[in-house]
Amino acid sequence: MPHIEGIRIQNYRSLKDITLGKTSKNWNAEPLPQLITIIGSNGCGKSTLIDALAFLGDCLAEGVKSACDKPHRGGIERLLTRGQDHLIQFEIYYRHNDSSTCRGYYLCIGKDKTDQPYIVHEYLGETIKYIETNAFYLSLKKGHGDVKMGTDRIDVSLTDPQRLGISTFGNLANYPHIVAFREFLESWYLSSLVPILGHQITMIGAHKHLTRNGDNLANYAQYLSHYYPSRFEKVLQDIAQCIPGIDKIILKITEDNQLLLQFIDNRYITPFYAQDISDGILKFFAYLLLLQDPEPAALIGIEELENGLHHHLVESLALEMKQVTRYLYGPQILLTTHAPHLVDILTPEEVWIMKKNDHGFSTIERAVDIQMMKELSAKKKNFWYTYYVKQGL
Ligand SMILES: Nc1ncnc2c1ncn2[C@@H]1O[C@H](COP(=O)(O)OP(=O)(O)OP(=O)(O)O)[C@@H](O)[C@H]1O
Ligand SMILES: [Mg+2]
Repeated sequence: MPHIEGIRIQNYRSLKDITLGKTSKNWNAEPLPQLITIIGSNGCGKSTLIDALAFLGDCLAEGVKSACDKPHRGGIERLLTRGQDHLIQFEIYYRHNDSSTCRGYYLCIGKDKTDQPYIVHEYLGETIKYIETNAFYLSLKKGHGDVKMGTDRIDVSLTDPQRLGISTFGNLANYPHIVAFREFLESWYLSSLVPILGHQITMIGAHKHLTRNGDNLANYAQYLSHYYPSRFEKVLQDIAQCIPGIDKIILKITEDNQLLLQFIDNRYITPFYAQDISDGILKFFAYLLLLQDPEPAALIGIEELENGLHHHLVESLALEMKQVTRYLYGPQILLTTHAPHLVDILTPEEVWIMKKNDHGFSTIERAVDIQMMKELSAKKKNFWYTYYVKQGL
């Protein structure tokens, strides 16, 4: 499974120029770890970062105009960093496994004369250092350029300036490197769980993955319980251990093929259904199931995991996430949080601090690179961040 080593984003809302991990700008930095947690005050740009990554996926799926025009983005004019007449730029560095080389994807989006977004430059290759050399798989400027097939370079021209080259060539078997990157980007799971949707009744049918908004919770639970019963059992055990009153969860199929989630509380004779269960419990159940996905997304992004959850459940989930991400080339998890007790169980290598500078632009720094945080975590293993917050450091 691919692993992101570095990200650079320029001119996307408050992200005037931010870098995480190892990129062409800082080739000697450490690659990003499997678990990345971003903390920072309100309005510093955490959601913007997650949205910027989702934006890339939307550009791939629907083209750049449609991605810019999503209601929560409101068009390219609102996306470009205020006061800067620049181009939106992304660099993603990733590696498929230890023996493969680090590859880079570069996307630059500008505005044409009619203020419509279009792709100025797109590149996929063996690090952006080698841009315009032979070591690329795709190189396009304003829709024209070449792609590499075997050892040949083939001239190509795209008809639609708003469609990504990786969406065209990433669907052709002749370009396996482009296909691999397209599949990687498509797999990113940037969660926007809406617990209320988990309450609704669905029709039977096993779904291989949980949707981003969680509306197929029962169908995904059906898939796991049927094909991976030990993984499902583990979720049930974790729930029973963490939430008093949820002794078992059973999937029930009604005569008219509706799929029901029954929550068994041994203190009551009859079960509760998903419709009766609290939002927090459903959310916890959904995240636990997500972490048991046998074919997980390469990148899982979760915003403010702690919302609506008791801090004990947040800690349990964070420990589970540490467990799931302990192997390089397993899923990579990106969290944003305001919860000190979550940060406390992480190491300063896993924590990034986001701030806004005097110009109103977001900045980001690893906690381990801040000497005081490094020292605190060495001394106060379990409460390093809480201590930092309490002291107003
Ligand atoms: N085009 C733009 N140029 C510069 N800054 C912008 C632009 N659009 C929005 N912003 C600013 O970016 C900030 C980042 O907001 P964001 O929602 O990412 O913060 P956050 O860290 O998620 O905050 P919270 O903790 O409250 O969720 C907003 O406060 C807004 O002022
Ligand atoms: Mg936010």
